Amino acid sequence: MLIDGHGRSVTYLRVSVTERCNFRCQYCMPEKPFSWVPKENLLSFEELFLFIKAAIDEGITKIRLTGGEPLLREDLDRFIKMISDYKPDIDLALTTNGFLLPDTAMKLKEAGLKRLNISLDSLKPDIAHKIAQKDVLGRVLLGIDKALEAGLKVKINMVPLKGINDDEIVDILEYGKAHNIKVRFIEYMENRHADQTLRGMHGREILDKIKERYTIKALGREGSSPSFNYLLDDGTEFGLIDPHKHDFCESCNRIRLTAEGFLIPCLYFDEAMSIADAIKTRDIQKASEILAAVLRDKPKENRWQQEDGEVSSRAFYETGG
Ligand code: GTP
Ligand code: 5AD
Ligand code: SF4
Repeated sequence: MLIDGHGRSVTYLRVSVTERCNFRCQYCMPEKPFSWVPKENLLSFEELFLFIKAAIDEGITKIRLTGGEPLLREDLDRFIKMISDYKPDIDLALTTNGFLLPDTAMKLKEAGLKRLNISLDSLKPDIAHKIAQKDVLGRVLLGIDKALEAGLKVKINMVPLKGINDDEIVDILEYGKAHNIKVRFIEYMENRHADQTLRGMHGREILDKIKERYTIKALGREGSSPSFNYLLDDGTEFGLIDPHKHDFCESCNRIRLTAEGFLIPCLYFDEAMSIADAIKTRDIQKASEILAAVLRDKPKENRWQQEDGEVSSRAFYETGG
């Protein structure tokens, strides 16, 4: 069992396999970064897997692969198979922008992937283009279809932005209903890398839009998830992720690993420790000790509502959201 310094049991590992991305979402990576992490600094799948095995042995039961765009990392299905073969009953999921799914969904499923969370911010081609700064909608929708056909469980993430896609909240909900996919609305998280003119919608405003059409009932949080669930009068469930809150921090069960080997105890803190040297020298004992140290110092809650309000300067495309 992995227990942190505040007595929380940590069972969820998010692994960002690359910071690179084929989209330029205005809220995440509006411009190509000045430089990417050089390829030689990335941990190989074999190296990442050495750590993952140790983490599974110590109590990790859920792994989510993120990015950047994780499907840009060549042979990701090979990595998925390594994890799945080691622990077939692990909750193994991927968060993706969906663009490369039309050609990969079936391979991912066959490798042992169980679930996919896909970003879908608009159903209008021009608005999707404006947000991702690329003509993406057709392929993303096809990718969702292919994922469902392959038998993967799918969720949709939407980030509502004022004056851009705030009129599509109900449409995305309807799309989810029609495809039997759960939609989660994520409040825009301000960050230094985003287009600074963006204005996100508050969770309350998102709910108000939905209430114009439906009666909704609050269900509560799903385990340790930051998503708060609601039920529509027709039985459809959706989630609202309000990252500015910290009421879910109390039951936080997660830790993050970047492609370079940094273990990050919380999305909003700069603190991180590297396991890269330990892993490269095959010193798994040392990597486990670093993991224990990171867990011991895992912050009690995120920083949004602390006085200085200072959040991490690390980009979400490095940590994988
Ligand atoms: P499920 O396993 O399906 O519940 O997915 P998930 O919500 O863990 O994963 P996903 O990658 O879809 O994350 C959705 C968004 O939730 C992230 O991009 C963040 O905005 C938010 N989020 C995830 N983890 C945290 C966290 O530890 N703290 C905060 N504040 N927000 C988080
Ligand atoms: N605010 C809110 N959500 C964000 N995501 C990426 N950047 C931000 C941000 N600044 C979302 C993506 C993806 C999920 C992992 O995080 O849309 O669905
Ligand atoms: Fe890429 Fe996802 Fe960031 Fe968009 S939100 S730029 S798809 S990493």
